[in-house]
Amino acid sequence: MPDILESNDGPVRTIRMNRPEKKNALTLSMYGTMAAAIEDAATKPAVRCLLIAGAPDVFCAGNDLNDFVAMAKSGALGAPIVRFMHALARCEKPLVASVSGAAVGIGSTMLLHCDQVIASTTAMFLTPFVSLGLVPENGSSLIAPRLMGHARAFSLLVMGKSLSAEEAKAAGIVNSIVPVDNLDAHALVVAREIAALPPESVTAARRLMRGSPEEILARIDEETEAFKTRLASPEAQAAFAAFLKRKR
Ligand code: COA
Repeated sequence: MPDILESNDGPVRTIRMNRPEKKNALTLSMYGTMAAAIEDAATKPAVRCLLIAGAPDVFCAGNDLNDFVAMAKSGALGAPIVRFMHALARCEKPLVASVSGAAVGIGSTMLLHCDQVIASTTAMFLTPFVSLGLVPENGSSLIAPRLMGHARAFSLLVMGKSLSAEEAKAAGIVNSIVPVDNLDAHALVVAREIAALPPESVTAARRLMRGSPEEILARIDEETEAFKTRLASPEAQAAFAAFLKRKR
């Protein structure tokens, strides 16, 4: 079974993370496949909305920590990761996400690029960047403070305080909360509703609301430089080793 499932349901393209045995932790190949699916949508007028989904028990455990260890040795953040972050920032099609269970690290920050986020009652949002010796990524250091204010963004991005579905809704990340059994169906209804709107008008309205992607792209690149430095730090190395060697 592929670790990213892509399906087109009329005008809605669903990109589903599917590595359940590792809680949908993202590998370089998964980033590359997701980036390609987003970039390809730009060339397909028939695709009018993208839906990013995970599994019922987990949305995404963030970057694969084994890959972080390897990247720290090589000194480079994997090109597919940067490609994925850039694809999100450049994406002109509306983005919907359906989130159940944990959304960790980039599992949470990818949601800041989405236009509608539907959460299940079990959704939990967590960005333990600083506890891992890292810094926020994916434009989150720019978007999150604008969305929820500096103090709440600091709790999330620096202090690593998790948000429940209700708290994420109050913070402006989540639109609606539904039982996990209804999540996929509800998210599809929302995606179809957006897809039924006049597409050029949706694109124009979205562009006005989001502004130029250049500012976000520049921030992603600035964060990436800091992230690479932090990856090789003793603080980060110790945190990765502790997670990967933890006793069961
Ligand atoms: N990278 C690599 N492997 C990961 C992973 C990650 N980010 N997240 C989970 N896994 C692996 C675990 O090592 C475990 O593998 P194993 O069965 O071979 O030992 C498997 O996925 C299941 O994880 P487990 O922790 O047992 O599941 P859980 O339901 O108890 O907890 C999470 C789920 C997501 C809360 C927990 O796995 C977690 O905190 N993961 C790390 C998240 C993280 O720090 N991401 C980086 C953010 S920058």
